[in-house]
Amino acid sequence: MRIDLFTLFPDWFDWFRGQRHVVNATESDGLELRFFHYRDTTPLTGGQVDDAPYGGGAGMVLRVDVVDAALRAAYEGSGSPSRVILLTPSGRQFDEALAQELASEPDLALLCGRYEGVDERVREHLATDAVSIGPYVLSGGELAAMVVADAVIRKLPGALGHADSALEESFSDALEGAPEYPHYTRPASYRGWEVPDVLLSGDHERVREWRLERSRERAARN
Ligand code: ADE
Repeated sequence: MRIDLFTLFPDWFDWFRGQRHVVNATESDGLELRFFHYRDTTPLTGGQVDDAPYGGGAGMVLRVDVVDAALRAAYEGSGSPSRVILLTPSGRQFDEALAQELASEPDLALLCGRYEGVDERVREHLATDAVSIGPYVLSGGELAAMVVADAVIRKLPGALGHADSALEESFSDALEGAPEYPHYTRPASYRGWEVPDVLLSGDHERVREWRLERSRERAARN
């Protein structure tokens, strides 16, 4: 899978790209990450990328011609990726089902906005999806893009050390879409806080039932 990130702040991703599961996914040939700086391909002079909003108002708006130029330069001769995703607080709420859907695509482009917003024509004509990571406003799409990329990358083969790690986790089909059950490890007793007996019983069927039950309980509580 290839994930292309379009941003005005590529250095925000320096930390992210060095994380173990991202490196694993890249080294196992499951993932290619590329970064594109809107300023490198802007058709405007002086590296301009934004402009004042029509109709007035505070802040600046990322221009549609700037985003279009970045996409054209990246995909000239190769065709656009299957999903071009604009990160915006007004987009579809990101969840595990969408992460799963995106993980099965061959390539993604994530468009990070900045300033007051992004010219609406980007969403209308250039993006296939508009995605929000939650009902709050970040100072730009970079953190949101990392959240989306992270949730997708950990589903790729080779990203997680253990092959089963992503199978039975929160919101997976194995748990009927519910949050994950509680985990415990040694010591079995700590300051009088005990690990549930069933987990020490060695009875795999009872453990399985107990976990599913706790997971359902959490879903109901949330
Ligand atoms: N850009 C700013 N806030 C955002 C959010 N909540 N989700 C996605 N992109 C954003």
